[in-house]
Amino acid sequence: MNLFSPIQLRSLELKNRIVLSPMQQYSAQNGIPGNWHLVHLGSRAVGGAGLILTECTAVSEEGLATLSDVGIWNEEQQNAWKNIVDFVHEQNAKIGIQLWHSGGKGSLKHPNERMKPLTVEEGGWIVKCSSPTEINGVIPQELSISEIQELKNKFAQAAVRAIKAGFDTIELHAGHGYLFHQFYSALINKRTDEYGGSFENRIRFLVETVQEVRKVIPETMPLLVRISAVDYVETEEGWTLDNSIRLAEILKNEGVDFITASGGGFTNVSKDRVFPGYQVPFATAIKEKTGLLTGAVGMITSAKQADEIISGNKADLVIIAREHLRDPYFAIHSAIQLELDTEIPWQYRRAF
Ligand SMILES: Cc1cc2nc3c(=O)[nH]c(=O)nc-3n(C[C@H](O)[C@H](O)[C@H](O)COP(=O)(O)O)c2cc1C
Repeated sequence: MNLFSPIQLRSLELKNRIVLSPMQQYSAQNGIPGNWHLVHLGSRAVGGAGLILTECTAVSEEGLATLSDVGIWNEEQQNAWKNIVDFVHEQNAKIGIQLWHSGGKGSLKHPNERMKPLTVEEGGWIVKCSSPTEINGVIPQELSISEIQELKNKFAQAAVRAIKAGFDTIELHAGHGYLFHQFYSALINKRTDEYGGSFENRIRFLVETVQEVRKVIPETMPLLVRISAVDYVETEEGWTLDNSIRLAEILKNEGVDFITASGGGFTNVSKDRVFPGYQVPFATAIKEKTGLLTGAVGMITSAKQADEIISGNKADLVIIAREHLRDPYFAIHSAIQLELDTEIPWQYRRAF
């Protein structure tokens, strides 16, 4: 087994183990992916990645973080995604959409304006999450039970649109301090109803959303979930790898096929904890303990490093973010370095 061994998730067959990691581009208007997204995602498909994942894509307007994020809550957005999906398919790559709600991390300005809070007067909105716990200087409002039910529907409706747009798979973004994470981490969730308190209660929103999404997507379609495997906070409230393993086991029973093991989202992670492959052990532990397929992400930057993760059975997919920005042809370059076969688009054959 190596970086270019195909892999099957339900009926989805990937030609290799290299994934374009979701990366917000802050380049949309009205949540509609445009030319930038076509080129950003399309280039990495041309570059040989087996699976392209879109950036986090909001299931409703309030799910955006900034007004420049993408969404899939209306038909115009759905049609724009279809165009990108079709191009990626023409490159013999597969594409998944990362569905997302920012919760208490919403209503922010563009990164060029340092992502400061966007006030209601400036076109922003009142952010809501599990509890009124401060996140990045803002205190969100608490979601009511009926709003939580409504949110589950939004995810299911977005999944239906994603299928209509032709996506091959769906990933729920349940990490990085966004809405699902705001529920399962006790750092933020202080609720006393059935959505807060115990472990089972804190994961309930994610588990019930998985159930709703699984109901509307084909049996043959794999469902992926990105989690923050740890909060990197060693207090009673901090989410731990053991919690993640327990969560993954439950998600597996609900029809989740694959977990991306990322980390953090509520605090800055100290530099000494971030090094090449720093999150790989999370993917390995979840894989070994639950039997789920997992993806490793975080500072994976070379063909050799990526191949060792796969051939050493430490994870099933390698999910590459920033190195893909530096080199859209990471997959083709990796195959050449490892002396393994991969297709090269005929238009570019004279160059490789
Ligand atoms: C510009 C940028 C935007 C990102 N946006 C997202 C996102 O939309 N969804 C997500 O799950 N992670 C996002 N991430 C995190 C990456 O997917 C990845 O987990 C992280 O960058 C670590 O991987 P790397 O070391 O290969 O860059 C983003 C990272 C970057 C650099």
